[in-house]
Amino acid sequence: MVFKRFFDRGTPVDPPQPEVLDDDDAAADLTVAPEDDSHLPEEAPDRPWYERAAEVIAGGASTGSKRPGAMYGTETPDGPTHFIHAAGCHVVATDGETYVDCSMALGAVALGYAEPNVTRAVLDAVGGGHVSGLSSTFEVAVAERLCDIVPCAERVRFLKSGAEATSAAVRLARTYTGRDVVIASGYLGWHDWASDSPGVPEGVRRDVLRVPFDDTAALETAVRTAGDRLAAIILEPVVERMPTDTWIARARELATRAGAVLIFDEMKTGFRLAPAGFQEVSGVTPDLATFGKAMSNGFPLAAVVGQRDVMDAAANTWISSTLASEAGALAAALTVCEWHDQADVCGMLATRGAEMRRVVGDALSASGIPGVTLAGLDQMWLLRFDDATRERAFLARAAGHGVLFKRGAYNYASVAHDDAAVQAIEHAASAAFVDIQEAS
Ligand SMILES: Cc1ncc(COP(=O)(O)O)c(C=O)c1O
Repeated sequence: MVFKRFFDRGTPVDPPQPEVLDDDDAAADLTVAPEDDSHLPEEAPDRPWYERAAEVIAGGASTGSKRPGAMYGTETPDGPTHFIHAAGCHVVATDGETYVDCSMALGAVALGYAEPNVTRAVLDAVGGGHVSGLSSTFEVAVAERLCDIVPCAERVRFLKSGAEATSAAVRLARTYTGRDVVIASGYLGWHDWASDSPGVPEGVRRDVLRVPFDDTAALETAVRTAGDRLAAIILEPVVERMPTDTWIARARELATRAGAVLIFDEMKTGFRLAPAGFQEVSGVTPDLATFGKAMSNGFPLAAVVGQRDVMDAAANTWISSTLASEAGALAAALTVCEWHDQADVCGMLATRGAEMRRVVGDALSASGIPGVTLAGLDQMWLLRFDDATRERAFLARAAGHGVLFKRGAYNYASVAHDDAAVQAIEHAASAAFVDIQEAS
């Protein structure tokens, strides 16, 4: 198999490092130098990319969190909006500047951008023909790995986005139980059943009872309301902090007692807190779980996994996507699994995240600026500002000092955040806090 060239299974080896391939030539083959812009779309020198985007992309960006307003709190951005190159924890933006990135593609990339082993595996898979009228062998190989890694996984289905995976999980639960009502907590994607946005029919909303994170009383009330129509309880298990044991244990108990399906959405927690995510850390096994993001280090792939009987309800409904088993993203996922076999990736994310968070916290304390707090876990932490103007100023100034922090959402540690990156983060946070303190 492709990855065996990079990871010699069975032989003790040093943990793979993000910037190192087995041989330098191979690494050189894979690296597109930032100055080589021959593969890039043509720039219009007099027009910023965000302006071009605003004219042709509805809402300005296809990913909500990458809209200028979402990134900087203003439609006229105070920092870069488009990149031309990404490697490790760095992005080169259209202004030609290199930034240390703390958002890591909204948590989709934990090993680092353009991680050479992942890139090589993807290129090999794509070069070998990544789709055909037959299923790819990678589909089976990655499913086998997930069944080894994830406690609840006896069967797997692949999809291309997290929203598809959570929707598939809910469809499976409804098919398996023959019931309609879903109790839901957290962000579970943009599809109708998971959304309160305009455009969602009232009839769809009616069968989804939303409950707040870690609110046991609300969960119990919702279960009573659902009665014998309860198909599933689907939870984003970690939101800025671990939940109480009580909430999770009660969810497990109530779902079992009602004959409903318990689903953990491990989109952010999977391959980050632990390879199997929250269920591995908590020891509580759901019936189904959904994975995506770090599972394939930024290549488009998601999965619903779970208990055999519930997953086999797939035979009685219709869940299918033309490119679900496309081999490039699956090859990336296989290499991610190999990384986790060979190195304590989640330990590295915790250690690096703790350092990132500590230096930002120290800079904040030293500045004495009020109304700013640090929240989240080490692996995924965020800055919360009481004052939007101050937040905007901080983000703009930090970008000016070479670091991109995420506005109002998680900053994610990656394996590629090395000592130099942590120092850059420390410097940018200190300088930005000092700048806004002096300006106030
Ligand atoms: C917990 C959770 N579930 C589902 C999703 C949706 O995933 P996607 O954006 O890949 O559709 C996300 C995305 O941020 C998420 O964080």
